[in-house]
Amino acid sequence: MLIDEQTITGRRVHTARLTQAKGLTDGPPGDEAIRAASIAKYRKRAAGYDRSCGPTWPIRERTIAALDLQPGQRVLDVGCGTGLSFDMLRERVGDTGRVYGIDQSPEMAQRASARIADRGWRNVTVSLSAAQHARLPEPVDAILFHYTHDILRSPAAVRLLLSLARPGATVAIAGVKYFPAWLAPLNLWVYLKNVPYNGSPGQLRAPWSVAAALLPGLRLTPTQFGMGYIATARLPQRPEAAPASTLTTS
Ligand SMILES: C[S@@+](CC[C@H](N)C(=O)[O-])C[C@H]1O[C@@H](n2cnc3c(N)ncnc32)[C@H](O)[C@@H]1O
Repeated sequence: MLIDEQTITGRRVHTARLTQAKGLTDGPPGDEAIRAASIAKYRKRAAGYDRSCGPTWPIRERTIAALDLQPGQRVLDVGCGTGLSFDMLRERVGDTGRVYGIDQSPEMAQRASARIADRGWRNVTVSLSAAQHARLPEPVDAILFHYTHDILRSPAAVRLLLSLARPGATVAIAGVKYFPAWLAPLNLWVYLKNVPYNGSPGQLRAPWSVAAALLPGLRLTPTQFGMGYIATARLPQRPEAAPASTLTTS
């Protein structure tokens, strides 16, 4: 299979062709099919994507605030889409920090790139890359997963992404989940709402479970009457000393 991987910055576009033999990808075979389905969906959705994000704007603000970013820090925006989080991330890390966006959809990444060019940012970049193949030039201090369900359900992707952060880095995750049992009849609606945005829209009972297994002490806060969540954690200071997974809810 031949995949184009582009690093798009506000100022220039680098293109590298990466040849991958079938079966040699980082993720399990299912990841490839889910990725392909997602890319097809965002080919159609990209143009109207920003207009659909108004209702979740407060969640975006809360999730980014939970990263507790400081001036000069480096942050990875996983599945950054059109770069809607870039303004807030860049404001927090300032001129001396760095924002790295990664997205596999050419149509979404191109819009993120246009946003960077519009703003004239020199310390924000977006790479056209699958999360399962992400690479960064330096370790990051924080990772944002904002409405990136497909990525979160891929153990290969989550493991790789967490390895790109320094020990003690902060992680903040927001997304959709099923309502609690007493509102279960509404969960078909939740599932159907998730379909247009994901290659694999199911597994909404505990979408954070892959991350929770790798992030001891992941703290979970339900949002939107229980059909959403924000999860936060810090990477262990010494990865080899990580205790068994624990999950706290608030
Ligand atoms: C619902 S959008 C969220 C975009 C952005 N995080 C936001 O909050 O506006 C999900 C994004 O994840 C991207 N995505 C899905 N699977 C991916 C993967 N395996 N690798 C990289 N990006 C992926 C999609 O292309 C899409 O842009």
